[in-house]
Amino acid sequence: MVDQLPGTPVTPRHAPFGRSAPAARTLVHLSDTHLVGAGLLGGRFDATANLEATLEAIVRTGIRPDAIVITGDLTDLGEPAAYRALREIVEPVAARLDAPVVWVAGNHDERPALRAGLLASDPPAADPTTTEANTTEPAADPEAPVTGVWDLGGLRLIALDSTVPGWHHGDIDPAQREWLRAELSQPAPLGTLLALHHPPLPSHIPLFDILELRHQDELAAIVRGSDVRGILAGHLHYSTSGTFAGVPVSVAAATCYTMNLQRPAVEVNGMDAGQSFHLVHVYDDTITHSVVPVVAAETGDYFSDAWVAEMAALSPEERLEAFSRKR
Ligand SMILES: [Fe+2]
Ligand SMILES: [Fe+2]
Repeated sequence: MVDQLPGTPVTPRHAPFGRSAPAARTLVHLSDTHLVGAGLLGGRFDATANLEATLEAIVRTGIRPDAIVITGDLTDLGEPAAYRALREIVEPVAARLDAPVVWVAGNHDERPALRAGLLASDPPAADPTTTEANTTEPAADPEAPVTGVWDLGGLRLIALDSTVPGWHHGDIDPAQREWLRAELSQPAPLGTLLALHHPPLPSHIPLFDILELRHQDELAAIVRGSDVRGILAGHLHYSTSGTFAGVPVSVAAATCYTMNLQRPAVEVNGMDAGQSFHLVHVYDDTITHSVVPVVAAETGDYFSDAWVAEMAALSPEERLEAFSRKR
């Protein structure tokens, strides 16, 4: 938002606090659940328990998101049992939050099993302002890219499929790029978010570039000048951000295990800690991606209901004096 010029009538955007109106839309973004059909992931990580802990943390936020976006590597091996388990864990939470789930394919997924396990029947109840995705490929082809478009009350969310069957690196093939170009030819009222697994960003970790997204220049040519306001991704198992074609990119870490970046880049490896999810707040003029660590920690109680009520009862000047003034 551009600051009001002196003399311009000022309409309070958000009473009583701050200069910004509340977010127009809110999403939950998590990634890389890597569920397995049985046992521990890699014999080491309890992907199911870690996902459940993440979902419990999401519920604790009290947020009613417009969508829950899971940016790929939904399962580790593409096992039907793993997709069933994933659905059984996620859908009740989504129903409780009244939010649609946007399943994005990752390199560890298998398109036919993902389709059969997650997309085969009706999605959970969505907010009345949302409509479920339109898949872009004939359902008859189980190997077709898993893509979709959601209208989240004027905010368009497009799920891309950056997987390459049989490989771990990423790509958006020419047909999908053309489809994306056509979708973006008409802007959405609140703009567009893209969700895909392989982030169009570099990684400082050696050899990760082998598994990166290919044909990024071609994708950038489509994104540049469009109404795309943000790109959500995963794959790296650590949270990071950057820009691509001038558009902010936000990478959510994993719920299963994360990369221990406290090591020299050549020694980075997975650890059963640091799991998190992102709260995506879509404002009129910006989008924030807040990283929420999934931890059990004692938390202070300074900002009580009584304190908030006390602040709300003050004038803006009194509030500044009460809360901003250094003692
Ligand atoms: Fe992953
Ligand atoms: Fe991945």
